Amino acid sequence: MSFIFNAWYAAAWSHEVKPAQMSKRTILEQKIVLYRTSSGQAVALQDRCPHRFVPLSLGSVKDDRVECCYHGLQFDCTGACVHNPHGTGRIPLAAKVKSYPVIDRCSLLWIWMGEEPADFDKLPSFPMMEADSGYRVVRGETVLRANYVVIGENLLDLSHVPFLHEGLLGSKDGLGIEPVLHTDGDDLQVDRFMRNISVPTAFDLLFRQDGKPVDQWMNMRWNPPGAYLIDVGVHAPGESREKGVWYYGCHTLTPETSKSTRYHFAAAWPPGGKDLDPETAARLAEIRRTAFEDQDKPILDAIQEEMGDAEFWGMKPALFQVDAAPIRMRRTVERLVAEDRAKRSGIV
Ligand code: FES
Ligand SMILES: [Fe+2]
Repeated sequence: MSFIFNAWYAAAWSHEVKPAQMSKRTILEQKIVLYRTSSGQAVALQDRCPHRFVPLSLGSVKDDRVECCYHGLQFDCTGACVHNPHGTGRIPLAAKVKSYPVIDRCSLLWIWMGEEPADFDKLPSFPMMEADSGYRVVRGETVLRANYVVIGENLLDLSHVPFLHEGLLGSKDGLGIEPVLHTDGDDLQVDRFMRNISVPTAFDLLFRQDGKPVDQWMNMRWNPPGAYLIDVGVHAPGESREKGVWYYGCHTLTPETSKSTRYHFAAAWPPGGKDLDPETAARLAEIRRTAFEDQDKPILDAIQEEMGDAEFWGMKPALFQVDAAPIRMRRTVERLVAEDRAKRSGIV
């Protein structure tokens, strides 16, 4: 499987990319340098000087231009070489680098990786992460040594929660339920609703801190290629969600290579929720860190190591009900990759 190039990917949290400072990224195996102009406009350029192929990110930003550290060629935000300090100052025709469309949206900086014109209608939407949304947002990021589809399978198959995160985020009491799959074009959503289960520690801390059973929901949405939004919460058995506690989890998966993925994640707490005391907030943060860093991450890295370069279907996976959403996602990615490849080779 390759990548879908004509698509938006989260390149960075918007606040990480600053005027006159360069940030390096690898996205779809392309080396990219990000920075902002003095007016705050974000710029993404191929991170390779066309002269002797030095990474431009080793240079500096001067007057909104990137200056190569080796011989001082300067490139503007379109990727055109606009200054050659040597001899007559003539600028060779080949002195240009690729520039990529970028846009700040929902506190992330998105990059369009394809050759087709950027399609702004396809930008993933996380309105709860906008600065004026009223939600309290806690952000993080990491790089996983796993393919983005393998990580997506983890997010769309939350039947792993009662096992891998038992007690912390989920309970085995909910194992019998059937996830409900909704599709809308290429987008999909998988909903889980578990009645009268032992309260997972993270939600007991957030809710009543009395250890009594709850109903729990986990509704995960996917927009291709790598945007995931979960609506997750608990309420007393049989109650309405308005009387419970809940939050959104926002996840974006940006392939670096076929075996490495930059992962931006955030929790967005709705306005009006009760403030947690510092000790409870710290315990909750530690549970989330443990679940992700100590439980999910080693599993995902291990799966990728085991799969190596093997083709998924050729490994003859054993599949059952919980795989409906992950398999639909994998099939959709395979089709979108093929359609993207056909467009790029001019077949369509
Ligand atoms: S390698 Fe960049 S100017 Fe020479
Ligand atoms: Fe997990």
